[in-house]
Amino acid sequence: MYDETLRSQKEIVLCEDGTNTLYSKEFDEPYHSTKDGALHESLEKHVKPSFSLKKEKEKLTILDICFGLGYNTFATLYYIKKQNLSTKVHILSPEFDEGLIRSLNTFDYPPEFENIEHIIKTISQDLYYEDEQFKIEILLGDARKSIPQINEMIDIVYQDAFSPAHNPLLWTREYFKDVRAICKEDALLTTYSTAASVRLGLYENDFLIFVHRAQMMRYSTVASLKMLEDLEYIDMELKKERNPTAQSIRDLNYNL
Ligand SMILES: C[S@@+](CC[C@H](N)C(=O)[O-])C[C@H]1O[C@@H](n2cnc3c(N)ncnc32)[C@H](O)[C@@H]1O
Repeated sequence: MYDETLRSQKEIVLCEDGTNTLYSKEFDEPYHSTKDGALHESLEKHVKPSFSLKKEKEKLTILDICFGLGYNTFATLYYIKKQNLSTKVHILSPEFDEGLIRSLNTFDYPPEFENIEHIIKTISQDLYYEDEQFKIEILLGDARKSIPQINEMIDIVYQDAFSPAHNPLLWTREYFKDVRAICKEDALLTTYSTAASVRLGLYENDFLIFVHRAQMMRYSTVASLKMLEDLEYIDMELKKERNPTAQSIRDLNYNL
């Protein structure tokens, strides 16, 4: 179902927070919400909620689905450096668009990423970066194939694929089963999607569902394998009773 010819066709789009993203012709969708903004969205929907819930951990392993322009990975490094955290972070990030990653050394990133420019360039060239605090690995190829081969156990998943309507195979119940299989017992998943079908797919794989509200943007979802005290809990059994026709997205409806 993926279109290699369209893959190279992308246009730069300026978001409302002043940061740049791309528009993908292959998926007919921007890489970020242009309203929420690429950097703002990464920080508010993924990095800040994750690090506030995992602040006691000295070492975190993050699955960043998928790398794209790398905003979620780079915003994580930016946040850690800005907050002077000593947390060691290992990021694994599937991505099948090698041409995109190779082009990132010339992408016009925001000034916030200036002091990690050397990391961006190294990743763009080697698809890998490592120092005493950070290890970043791009898993080149189809995420559906690379995720089941991951041997690390994951603390945090940034679930930031193109939307379920445009890239359903990265939102199915079976996909979330593979993700759940490599998650630690207290793992978290952050996503911009608030769709009932997505939340059901997560719930059917043991995730509890919570609402995350951030400043100046639409609410999003935090899913967790253990109960969280400070977030608004969504009773999925009640949701199912009220909406009996709602279903998770399934592999069998698409060509894998
Ligand atoms: C919405 S973008 C990710 C944006 C990224 N998180 C960021 O912050 O820049 C989705 C990415 O998923 C990649 N992708 C889509 N389907 C994939 C698959 N099956 N396996 C690997 N990468 C995939 C696309 O090439 C694209 O780069």
